[in-house]
Amino acid sequence: MANSSFNKPDIERVFRGTFVHSTRTCALQILEDALLGVDTEGKIAFIEKGEDLGRLAADFKTSDIIQLSQHEFFMPGLVDTHIHASQYSYAGTALDLPLLQWLNTYTFPVESQFKDLDFARKVYKQVVKRTLRNGTTTACYFATIHTNSSLLLGEIANAFGQRALVGKVCMDRNNAVKYYKETLQESQDETCRFIAELLNKKYPLVKPVVTPRFAPSCSGALLGQLGAIAKNNNLHIQSHISENPEEVMLVKELFPESESYSDVYCKYNLLTDKTIMAHGCYLSDKELTLFRETGASLSHCPNSNISLCSGILNVRNVLKHNVKLGLGTDVAGGYSASILDAMRRAQDSSKVLAMQDSDLDPLTFEEAFRLATLGGSQALSLDGQTGNFEVGKDFDALRVNLIVPGGPIDLIQHEEPKILVEKFLNLGDDRNIVEVFVAGRRVVPFTDSKPE
Ligand code: GUN
Ligand code: FE
Repeated sequence: MANSSFNKPDIERVFRGTFVHSTRTCALQILEDALLGVDTEGKIAFIEKGEDLGRLAADFKTSDIIQLSQHEFFMPGLVDTHIHASQYSYAGTALDLPLLQWLNTYTFPVESQFKDLDFARKVYKQVVKRTLRNGTTTACYFATIHTNSSLLLGEIANAFGQRALVGKVCMDRNNAVKYYKETLQESQDETCRFIAELLNKKYPLVKPVVTPRFAPSCSGALLGQLGAIAKNNNLHIQSHISENPEEVMLVKELFPESESYSDVYCKYNLLTDKTIMAHGCYLSDKELTLFRETGASLSHCPNSNISLCSGILNVRNVLKHNVKLGLGTDVAGGYSASILDAMRRAQDSSKVLAMQDSDLDPLTFEEAFRLATLGGSQALSLDGQTGNFEVGKDFDALRVNLIVPGGPIDLIQHEEPKILVEKFLNLGDDRNIVEVFVAGRRVVPFTDSKPE
């Protein structure tokens, strides 16, 4: 590892200790006494064995090495592949209705308030801070139909240093709450303005995502235009699919010419290798095959699926079909903004299914860990930049300490790293996440210079 070679950025930080991450072939790879170097561009310059320090040390001052303690490890940052930033104000409440009634009763009235930029600023700042503190280094956000406040969400994510996809929500159909919708023309024009203005800011880690809310709130004409906009600008796409039985029936009624829910999106060029669809509880095997063929991915949101009594995703079957899969909190359908919670609910959900079907193997904690990190980055087509500790990727990482003052975990005896990871995933919380890095920059703890 010579950084004297042409054009190679200098080493800025070197950490030594336990690193855990996922690879394509290994759900939980544990690297004990490893050395990881981060360059001045925030990328991983090397990850080597501690014993190779002598060979590496020409590139940096060994006195600057940051040594982790025995109870600490680094893991990749968590990826939330589906979260409604605009619903954060009522997270933890309003879980007593099924999806379509829940949207009409709670969601649309709250989202309509984001016309007010002061309200938007208050909520968006809190959700970005809360998710970062909980280790979400990458978030795929739904905002609302309002362009200016959606742009503000991008500005706030950038200011706090979170990697984010931000979507201005599109909907030209809403029979229940008439004041919360756009015309076809408005939706198209404002989507174009949102994309142009957000790209124009040149935020290094924040990108726009084309966001039809879901088929029932969009006309075919709007879906077609959004598919074209995404294609012409090579953009990400996000929406919801097959979350709840009533919703699936409604889509059949509204789009009688389509063979399936997936077929509606496919017809309008909305299933691409940069598409992420939330839920998918009721997708047929044929639809899963269509996802694999198009490269579209699914966001598994188990807290929301249970909280709104929507259904339980058969994760095993999704994985069997080789569909890219990540985890989402789906705040506020899901009441927790933490991907640690999503990992736990994903395992609980798959255990419930396994109790009903002895042919199903429940998800392991290692698999849940992979879904929350590498899986999420793959689902968002960001695995070239983030998701694990491969050389050349951005250093998006959590420094986890099992023993923190007043923390939630008791260690009775010395434990091997795998046990530390398992305990953190099952028992840990944000108190154990002592530092968060995104693209090499330390973003947690928050510093005073951050916008209030
Ligand atoms: N389907 C359409 N909109 C929404 C939403 O805001 N939350 C959830 N969970 N499902 C949706
Ligand atoms: Fe959602």
